[in-house]
Amino acid sequence: MRTLIKNGTVVTATDQYTGDVLVEDEKIAVIGTLLDIQADKVIDASGKYVLPGGIDVHTHLDMPFGGATSADDFETGTRAAAFGGTTSIVDFAIQYRGQTLHDAWEAWIKKADGKAVIDYGFHMIITELTDQVEGEMDALVRQGITSFKLFMAYPGVFMLDDASIFKALLRTGTNGGTICMHAENGGVIDVLVQRALAAGKRAPKYHALTRPARAEAEATHRAIALAEIADVPIYIVHLSAAEALEMVTEARDRGLPAFAETCPQYLFLSYDNYEEPDFGGSKYVMSPPLRDKAKQDQLWRGLAFNDLQAIATDHCPFCMKEKRLGQDDFSKIPNGAPGIETRMSLVYDGGVRTGRISLNRFVELTSTSPAKIFGLFPRKGTIAPGSDADIVVFDPNRAITLSAKTLHMNVDYNPYEGRQVTGATDTVLSRGRLVIENGTFVGRAGAGSFLKRATRS
Ligand code: URP
Ligand code: ZN
Ligand code: ZN
Repeated sequence: MRTLIKNGTVVTATDQYTGDVLVEDEKIAVIGTLLDIQADKVIDASGKYVLPGGIDVHTHLDMPFGGATSADDFETGTRAAAFGGTTSIVDFAIQYRGQTLHDAWEAWIKKADGKAVIDYGFHMIITELTDQVEGEMDALVRQGITSFKLFMAYPGVFMLDDASIFKALLRTGTNGGTICMHAENGGVIDVLVQRALAAGKRAPKYHALTRPARAEAEATHRAIALAEIADVPIYIVHLSAAEALEMVTEARDRGLPAFAETCPQYLFLSYDNYEEPDFGGSKYVMSPPLRDKAKQDQLWRGLAFNDLQAIATDHCPFCMKEKRLGQDDFSKIPNGAPGIETRMSLVYDGGVRTGRISLNRFVELTSTSPAKIFGLFPRKGTIAPGSDADIVVFDPNRAITLSAKTLHMNVDYNPYEGRQVTGATDTVLSRGRLVIENGTFVGRAGAGSFLKRATRS
């Protein structure tokens, strides 16, 4: 099967030129100008960008959490991702206490197999680090699960003590894996939550007010310090606070391999959203919480100057029925919000169109850099001969209005309801197969494959 994408503006992390891209079966075969080659399908990309497919390295599909399960499974979630221009995800499998990593992996593979529309990999969340589990980390790395998420928050559920965190970090020094850290001081937050509840402070906004930016900064600093002692890289997930970014910047200025992602919600939403009436603030209950609007410029600077290397979504949607589990107690509101479909348009509109980041940097942050950090490059994350034909034809001039009614995520609200953005995904190829054609889904559940990722080089 040959597909020829003609006359588009091809954009990678480093290049921008008018050209044609020939896809042969699953791979990019030829890039040139005015290619005169027979193809089974020709896509006219005039006036459009031809981008490497987005890579979202932080999603939670079909994930039990706080008495509910995230509303998108691997079929609805990956379909929505494709609509939004994302062609690979790395989701989080969870090892519950008492479980082996192998059993956890099998459980998550079952959730994805036969359902995913695009390619998917897994990070493994470790909640208990016995000697046996430590040994299993090596086996997982060999099987292509080359990153592990650890929590410094949620005591009694996900949180690991510093000794276990340190042992896991040390283990990645020999097996080549990467530790991804949820960096918030869970002990401090727990005390603040109990005191708020005891004082009758039960509304959604207290979720944010009991998770101070300094608790994120402290944990970020500690995580980086533990990684420095262990002499390994570290990746901070869903960084929200400018104070935490300062810790990453300071470490990078000292030459440490500290990496971090942020998410669109921390760039476009803020603490003010928690003040929305009628329990509306619950839509934004996520951890870390939304921060002050005035600090967002610091995150944008971090993205522009490479102190932040990736934009992921932390897609973890719950319908309002589930959010209402915390109607009378903010600490019972399931944590998380939808975002898998809106990332590329939001960041293009609010980042590139405003001049905060360049078009090349947009590609780098949403595709190339996550691919490099998580062992997918150059198979994914660029447009080059031999790379997977994961390609997005993106219209930089098409305006869309974000709404739960018209988006495809399986959730009954959208945090950006009514927001108009300019820049939208028209057509998507995943390993050469059309998944979205001019805004219509033409893909197939089960066509996505498990991504066996490489270790750090
Ligand atoms: O609130 C969030 N972020 N929910 C998903 C779980 C996590 O910590 O990433
Ligand atoms: Zn987290
Ligand atoms: Zn998450």
